[in-house]
Parts: sequence; structure tokens; C-alpha cells
Amino acid sequence: MVCSLVVMVVGIGVDMVKIEKMKQVIDRWGRSFIDKIFNSEELEMIHESRIYYQRLAARFAAKEAVIKAISKRHPLALKDILILNRENGAPYCKLKKNINLEILLSITHIKDYAVATAVAQKEF
Ligand SMILES: CC(C)(COP(=O)(O)OP(=O)(O)OC[C@H]1O[C@@H](n2cnc3c(N)ncnc32)[C@H](O)[C@@H]1OP(=O)(O)O)[C@@H](O)C(=O)NCCC(=O)NCCS
Repeated sequence: MVCSLVVMVVGIGVDMVKIEKMKQVIDRWGRSFIDKIFNSEELEMIHESRIYYQRLAARFAAKEAVIKAISKRHPLALKDILILNRENGAPYCKLKKNINLEILLSITHIKDYAVATAVAQKEF
């Protein structure tokens, strides 16, 4: 029996966040803003980082990028999307809803900006 598998790109998304803007929003709205958007698993990974705001902004950008990549097919809230890191530091995305897509993710951040790109793939 021949079993062929086709993987197709079905969506792409990119987003950029200004670090200072993220810091201002958190200074204004505090924990309630953070808890509306981020899950505890995500926060645990970065809470001791000396570049906490950069990494938080990068995760926000990543969530927005994922929404751009898949929202036409699946409406999602920011908190339904988890941005985590593998042991080697590479980011990956876990969705709380049972959606049959693989999301590829790339993140970068510097002092002023964080950028993320997401690609959604589906197996046929
Ligand atoms: C992994 C690497 C590409 C990260 O690049 P960087 O410029 O240091 O960092 P950036 O700000 O652009 O990106 C940071 C993000 O990269 C992602 N990242 C980390 N390790 C990664 C990996 N192994 N694969 C993919 N992405 C990775 C993470 O999402 C990280 O952000 P986070 O920790 O907040 O999740 C870099 O450290 C590396 O290993 N480069 C290889 C070349 C090299 O060794 N250069 C040094 C000698 S010149």
C-alpha cells in the first residue's frame, strides 16, 4: 500500500510590537492585562528574565501572528494560544482548542521592538 502525505501551507502571519508600548500598557493595567492574554505556563518561562518586557512583547507579537495565520479558518482568543520554548530555546505554539494545524513560529526581539512570524500547515 502506498501512503502519501501532503503538507500544505494554509496561512501566514507576522506582527511587530513596540516594547515601550507594551511596558506602558502593563504599567497602566497591571496584572489584569497580563492575565487576560498570557497563560501561567508562558509567564513561568520568562518571569525571571532580565529582558522580561522584550520577551513578553515577543509573545504578544507571536499570538497576533498566529491569529493572522489561522483566523480565517478558526477564530481564537489570545489566551487560547500558548507560546512556549523547547529545551534548545526554539519557540513553539500550542493551541488550547483542538485544531488540526501545525504552527511554525519564529521570534526576534531587540531593545525597542519584538517581531514574530507564524506559518500554519495542514496535512492532507
Ligand atoms: C538561536 C539564535 C539564532 C537566536 O538569535 P539572537 O539574535 O540571539 O536572538 P533574537 O532576539 O533574534 O531571537 C531570540 C528568539 O530566538 C528564538 N530562539 C532561541 N533559540 C532558538 C533556536 N534554537 N531555534 C529557533 N529559534 C530560537 C527564541 O524564540 C528567542 O526568543 P525567546 O527566548 O524570547 O523565546 C542564536 O542564538 C544562534 O544560535 N545563532 C547561531 C549562530 C551563532 O552561533 N552565532 C554566534 C556566533 S557569531
